Amino acid sequence: MGVRSEQVSRSIATMAHTAPLQSPRRRLMVGCGVAAAWGASAGAWAGEALTIRFSHVVAPDTPKGLAVERFRQLVQQRTGGRIQVAVYPDGQLYGDHDEMQALQLGAVEMLAPSLSKFGRIGFPEFELFDLPYFFPDMASVQQVTQGPLGQRMLDRLARQRLVGLGFMDNGFKHMSANRPLLEPAHFAGLRMRVQASRVIASHMRALGARPVTLSFSETKRALSTGVVDGTENPISNFWTQGMHQVQTDLSLTHHGYLGYAVVANQRFWSGMGAADRALVGQALREALAHGNQIAQLENDKALAELRSAGQTRIHGPSTRQAEQMRLAAEPVHAELAKRIGAHWLVDVRDAFTSA
Ligand code: SIN
Repeated sequence: MGVRSEQVSRSIATMAHTAPLQSPRRRLMVGCGVAAAWGASAGAWAGEALTIRFSHVVAPDTPKGLAVERFRQLVQQRTGGRIQVAVYPDGQLYGDHDEMQALQLGAVEMLAPSLSKFGRIGFPEFELFDLPYFFPDMASVQQVTQGPLGQRMLDRLARQRLVGLGFMDNGFKHMSANRPLLEPAHFAGLRMRVQASRVIASHMRALGARPVTLSFSETKRALSTGVVDGTENPISNFWTQGMHQVQTDLSLTHHGYLGYAVVANQRFWSGMGAADRALVGQALREALAHGNQIAQLENDKALAELRSAGQTRIHGPSTRQAEQMRLAAEPVHAELAKRIGAHWLVDVRDAFTSA
């Protein structure tokens, strides 16, 4: 191992152990130094011992947590431990507000942010995935994410020094509060926690609620203290965050999709060298295929657990209520089409209707 590579490898391993004890600001500053080192030359660390820090904001036993864990195991097995993936779940290292910046600065090597989070860093077309009642089912989402259009979207991320490596599913979202939320009238005046997504915020406004942007890790507390009245998430997130302890009602509205894109720091990715890149890329593809296969099962399992915990009233909208909810969301589609160009909506819809 070259002296420089050894230093970088060591500094990364050291940071991986010490970073949770440092303030986010300090961590980002340390990260800058490492990013500069990664930038030395393409393939500079080929064949070296490495630790890939993979940060995410959800629990280990969610679709995302399980897919990342599979990736960690595959890389560990196939490199005999030479390349390690250090996984930081639950926003331990970075939360949704600073994880993207941490990646761009090189303070972590990989992330899987929700697709909503790409809108605010210059990729508003990713907000398509937030559109309520746009994708009829998971198969339609996958027609897009696993096809040429999805690849084109990932490739565009290079403009922000990100390597888009693949899409990862969670599932369809549902509404929760201390009351049923089955038709627009039920949302009047409620403060609803949303991710930093203009589309989701606009959807809440269209329903008559007030959107409040909060990071994922702050959500349960905000619900329990009454800072917000309700939220939306797939059941796996709702259950693993213990939101059922602070919300009495879950309404199975199935109104929108939540998924992720796995991204790597560009300088780190090219610094790895072709053989390691191929190996890590293959491990990730397999982990994503596994994650996407179990995502629905994990959400079903969470619903069964929620039912048997018996603390939550679970509702489903009638046909009339579902139709009212769908109609209320229409202006949100028109607003996004105006912002990003109607061709994006047409292309995405074509990708799943022509399949
Ligand atoms: C996630 O699943 O990564 C977070 C989703 C959210 O912020 O609601």
